[in-house]
Amino acid sequence: MSVFDRGEEEGISRGERALVVLPDRAGAQSLRSIEARLDEAAGLAGAIGVEVVGRKAYRLRQTRSASLFGKGQVEEIGQLARDADAHLLVIDAMLTPVQQKTLEEGTKTKVIDRTGLILEIFGERAATAEGRLQVELAHLDYQAGRLVRSWTHLERQRGGFGFLGGPGETQIEADRRQIRDRMARIRQELEQVKRTRGLHRDRRQRAPWPVVALVGYTNAGKSTLFNRMTSATVFAEDLLFATLDPTMRGVRLPGYDKAILSDTVGFVSDLPTQLIAAFRATLEEVASADLIVHVRDIAHPDSVAQAADVAEVLASLGLDEPESPPRMEAWNKLDLLDGDAGAALLNEAARREDVVTLSALSGEGVDHLRAEISKRLAAGSVVHRLKLSAADGVRLAWLHARGEVLDQRYEGDMMHVAVKLTPEQWSRFQAL
Ligand code: GTP
Repeated sequence: MSVFDRGEEEGISRGERALVVLPDRAGAQSLRSIEARLDEAAGLAGAIGVEVVGRKAYRLRQTRSASLFGKGQVEEIGQLARDADAHLLVIDAMLTPVQQKTLEEGTKTKVIDRTGLILEIFGERAATAEGRLQVELAHLDYQAGRLVRSWTHLERQRGGFGFLGGPGETQIEADRRQIRDRMARIRQELEQVKRTRGLHRDRRQRAPWPVVALVGYTNAGKSTLFNRMTSATVFAEDLLFATLDPTMRGVRLPGYDKAILSDTVGFVSDLPTQLIAAFRATLEEVASADLIVHVRDIAHPDSVAQAADVAEVLASLGLDEPESPPRMEAWNKLDLLDGDAGAALLNEAARREDVVTLSALSGEGVDHLRAEISKRLAAGSVVHRLKLSAADGVRLAWLHARGEVLDQRYEGDMMHVAVKLTPEQWSRFQAL
């Protein structure tokens, strides 16, 4: 039977009862507490609509390549699943295809690993053509190594390829070929979509507005902040990845007619490599922003580790180069801080130039953030040396009215001007 011929009963359905299992590697250095990691995995599972009916961490003594867990652990997990009437195991780790299969056979329960889970979430949330294609590509890539099984919604959406051919090795070969062909077609479509998007972006870049991108760990409160600042209606709920593709809205900032605020998909730790491209598609807008605001859930026990993950992803996307957009941090969920630890955080924030504290929920500190964003956008001013026709009175007057003219002298009938302009003023001037 082809992997694509599997029936609906193999899929993950909403409301499916699931058990979250965390393999805890002995000696592995993790900054996160077991409880927080279980919470995050349960949150991810919840984001695809399954009902988490139990959770447990298992200490791994040594790497058992065949099943990851020890024999007794596999038996126990199977029993737990049966007791809880759970039909899905969410394993918070990246499993090899063999590990996944062995675990499914050993526990007689369907297994989804972290990569599969994130793919499902991205698949459900991809909002643009490019996002969807990137996710499908990532999914096929993931699947190519896992022809042992497949039951995700992406297959169901595609409705199978209607393979002929016989069972066994031949079938797997045929499936592989189909996957490769499909991937090649998607890559072509992607090129097309990217060209179109490039055109749109050029149009926008010529628009005389600065772009501010919100990035942050999943559930940090980006969408809530985005909504508050733009008073737009986007998905903001206690779901992970409420946004996959960047959502852009106009926002008012002091000193600016308008700026563009862009919301992005939440980051997670250990982003599977197959997903980097899909993720990157959502972050291309970030690279061309004038300012990046890193939104942090400062009340989260793993706030520091989450921030490190975000920084690492940004770095892997080349966003820590000197020419990358400047960054600042918005420490969110101020309303949840209390006690000494809270006071210490507020002290630290007050000492740091690049940090604003706020509560996107109550609105406290949001105006301060607007002001700081404006300040930073203006701080991006650079000196431009221009040659204007001496007769070009309108543009010269504009420069004097908006910018800071540092020097101006005639050479023949040309006027040489040195003027300090913010990026916003510069693009406005060019659009004149
Ligand atoms: P992803 O889409 O997964 O990346 O999440 P996000 O960063 O967009 O987070 P979202 O805005 O969806 O908020 C996540 C949860 O945090 C929601 O339940 C919000 O109501 C809550 N939240 C956001 N900001 C605050 C805040 O300032 N205080 C409190 N207490 N909760 C907040």
